[in-house]
Amino acid sequence: MKEFTIDTRIRSYAWSELSEADQRLLEAAKRKTEDSYSPYSHFCVGAAALLADGTIVGGCNQENAAYPSGLCAERTALFAAGAQHPDQPVKALAIAAFTDGHFTEDPVSPCGACRQVMLETENRYKQPMRVLLFGANHVYEFDSAESLLPFSFISDDLKGGVRER
Ligand code: THU
Repeated sequence: MKEFTIDTRIRSYAWSELSEADQRLLEAAKRKTEDSYSPYSHFCVGAAALLADGTIVGGCNQENAAYPSGLCAERTALFAAGAQHPDQPVKALAIAAFTDGHFTEDPVSPCGACRQVMLETENRYKQPMRVLLFGANHVYEFDSAESLLPFSFISDDLKGGVRER
């Protein structure tokens, strides 16, 4: 028997400790919550993807009366970036959520499906994508999408080979 542990490093920042660039990206994610179409959950999520050339692509959750047809903010932003700027690696993704008249005090964690798409984005461009999660009390930073989805299913698995972990 062999046992192993996968660690995740999370940095927690007070707003004033963040760089101006990260504050700008988080502000873009916060602004996108205003465009959220969420008449069912009233949970407004905004995301902002920072591309290598400095472009910021925003996204927000898009709900639907047929509930599963909707899409989260993270995937809306990443798919928009991939569709409009396919040659630009995504360097960072910021996420914020607004509900009951205020931004959440603690960061909101991306759902599993979004993590899977975040990971594929990172792998596609062969470079880490930093993830910033906004909370009014603190902001969490992850160095990569992989750190949010360890032991994941990736394109290499489709080839069926044995992967050394
Ligand atoms: N949602 C996101 O957009 N991102 C997340 O990380 C969590 C959940 C959306 C999906 C749905 O429109 C609403 O929030 C409630 O789940």
